[in-house]
Amino acid sequence: MLVHAIPANAAHDFASDVRAGLTRSAQKELPSKYLYDDVGSALFEVISHLPEYGLTRADERLLRRHADEIVNRVAGPVAVAELGSGSGRKTRWLLEALCRRQRTSYYPVEISRSALTMCERELSDIDSISIVGFEREYLDGLLEVAAYRRPGQHLFVLFLGSTIGNFDRPAGLRFLAEVRWILQPGDALLLGTDLEKSSSVLLRAYDDELGVTAAFNLNLLARVNHELGANFDLAQFEHSARINHEARCVEMHLVSRRKQVVSIPGANVVVEFQEGETIWTEASHKYSVGEICRTATEAGFHCEAQWIDDEWPFAENLLVAE
Ligand SMILES: C[S@@+](CC[C@H](N)C(=O)[O-])C[C@H]1O[C@@H](n2cnc3c(N)ncnc32)[C@H](O)[C@@H]1O
Repeated sequence: MLVHAIPANAAHDFASDVRAGLTRSAQKELPSKYLYDDVGSALFEVISHLPEYGLTRADERLLRRHADEIVNRVAGPVAVAELGSGSGRKTRWLLEALCRRQRTSYYPVEISRSALTMCERELSDIDSISIVGFEREYLDGLLEVAAYRRPGQHLFVLFLGSTIGNFDRPAGLRFLAEVRWILQPGDALLLGTDLEKSSSVLLRAYDDELGVTAAFNLNLLARVNHELGANFDLAQFEHSARINHEARCVEMHLVSRRKQVVSIPGANVVVEFQEGETIWTEASHKYSVGEICRTATEAGFHCEAQWIDDEWPFAENLLVAE
């Protein structure tokens, strides 16, 4: 697979985001995109197989069952761009359905190089496919993919796994509007969204018994240690999953087990933590079916079709650019 590698300023961005997030006077936070270094991407892949994390299986069931119908509703010929593809395992169903109708260019857009490598390993055996990976942020990658568009070709954008839920609701709307701005009328976006469900199910999904999600979260501190020379003692932080009822999301935090001081030379900062103080590392917002179509309409799409899983409330939403 040809990979367009990430520009060299990424390390600088990491350092400045860590510094900004950990020196806030309010809630300390680290952007969730930094959870996905090589170890984090591998751990996320394990999470997607855990019995408690029904989300990925629901997404995959819908794609497997409805791939032909989804693809038949997308105007062609198309090139496929996938934002945050991860390993691309579930995408196989859509790509196989598309490749039965046309030769298909598939462009995974990922900040994680190792996710792109997994993705190629997973999908390159499909007949009539060509894969070009973009090691980029979502919108930067989509802009580049759009520049590859041939005359008369539509784009079919995939944003699966409810990754949209990592944005709060206003930012999610802005993100969809920015995607729409890059697209042309008739282009399609398949958006996977996790639906509201009970707090107990959600807490188990984000704090599994084996401790894989805890390791995924704590690995962010290990990454700061490796890449920025910090001295986080991982044993002095604890993973915590919390329901934020008002925001309708699950939050992941890292809780400081005691008062402590951590030095991060690569970010040129020393950070003090109180006992019980947390670093907020991820939010996963949950949706109602009607709200997705309303948000999509506000962003400049129309809701062409929705498919809902009958075992784990999850919706696949096919949105078409107006
Ligand atoms: C929750 S995982 C979902 C992976 C896969 N789509 C799935 O459904 O299982 C999010 C993926 O998006 C990637 N990612 C996170 N933030 C990103 C960003 N700002 N730009 C590009 N990729 C990003 C991560 O590396 C990760 O592979």
